Amino acid sequence: MRPIRHISRWTAVQLAAVLALALAQLPAASAAGVMHFFARPDNGLAATPPMGWNSWNHFACNVSASLIEAEADAMVASGMKAAGYRYVVIDDCWQVGRDANGNILADPQRFPQGIKAVADYVHGKGLKFGIYSDVGDHTCQMRPGSRGHEYQDALQYARWGVDYLKYDWCNKGGLDARSAYATMSDALRATGRPIVFSICNWGEEQPWLWGAQAGGNLWRTTQDIWDAWSGRRDFALGVLDILDLQVDLAAYARPGHWNDPDMLEIGNGGMTDAQYRAQFSLWAILAAPLIAGNDLRQMSAATRATLTNKEVIAVDQDALGVEGRRVSKDGDAEIWVRPLTDGREAIVLLNRGARPLSIRLDWSALGLPAYLPLRFRDLWQHQDLPVAKVSLTLPVAPTSVRMLRETPAAPRG
Ligand code: GLA
Repeated sequence: MRPIRHISRWTAVQLAAVLALALAQLPAASAAGVMHFFARPDNGLAATPPMGWNSWNHFACNVSASLIEAEADAMVASGMKAAGYRYVVIDDCWQVGRDANGNILADPQRFPQGIKAVADYVHGKGLKFGIYSDVGDHTCQMRPGSRGHEYQDALQYARWGVDYLKYDWCNKGGLDARSAYATMSDALRATGRPIVFSICNWGEEQPWLWGAQAGGNLWRTTQDIWDAWSGRRDFALGVLDILDLQVDLAAYARPGHWNDPDMLEIGNGGMTDAQYRAQFSLWAILAAPLIAGNDLRQMSAATRATLTNKEVIAVDQDALGVEGRRVSKDGDAEIWVRPLTDGREAIVLLNRGARPLSIRLDWSALGLPAYLPLRFRDLWQHQDLPVAKVSLTLPVAPTSVRMLRETPAAPRG
């Protein structure tokens, strides 16, 4: 038998040769486009889906310091802050150029004291502050994007006190989505400031597959929403069109990393109050970020009641962090179910169509035996329903939902 030490030495020589050969191959591999992609460590943010307000859906490019500050005031005065909304986010159009050193410049007319003053104001209200940029050299509204300035911009945001960055996908040239988003998430992390990272890739590159690895806390799953129950308009989709694109995505959401079916349209005027309650209910079932997109300074009582419904918000923010799924579809009647902490479940009965429907919820759709007595609470009427067994049938008005929370009436098992 040969001494073990001799074999080891020989093996080491062989290994070194193999390693040298492999290393020699590396530049060729990168030149051929093979890229190493490792998971970014969690930033510890967004344990539950972020809640806040964003300027885009209602104001588009018409943003200014006075508007953002007034919306922050209204977030407090309206009860939105008390209901859990935190982030006040300026979307596109705050930026106009770069100085000689490449530093990003805010519009001096609309933000005369600069962005830090706005961030300080928002923080003074006990809220958090968010901003917007883009992977390309221009944003969707052709303002300067962050391409080639990622670390410089991230540092600037951190100095201003930014807590949330929405990072868009316009004018991306030939950029690879994963690496473009990972670059900005690395840049944000390097600042040392906790900043929620919102990947706005419109679902184009299936960001649910890599968004968490790239350091995203949320990623848009679709193109833009518009203020309509259904139907496409250019780049935009109605509530039902967006909902249909969420059907297979539940498995990708978890605490710290959420599917984002785009912002809320509640209160913007294009839908009925019942349709807005439906968007809110469905977004809560989807564990979606709840980012209001209306003018908080002038909300109707119905809009405020919808956006601040604490029982529905509790579903969205449930600590289990599991996204709900569609468990049945029969024409316009759909049932969506989301598991909650303590063995409870949230349920949405959705009537997509123009005729009234009766929708029957069988316990089998909940994965429960028919004999089990269940308690239901109606989360819009704020009422408990009588204990039921086997099934529950409820009328659901046209283009609306009923939203329930189920608790077993007797201990399970
Ligand atoms: C894209 C995004 C929107 C909004 C606009 C701003 O369309 O998806 O949410 O940020 O850009 O230009």
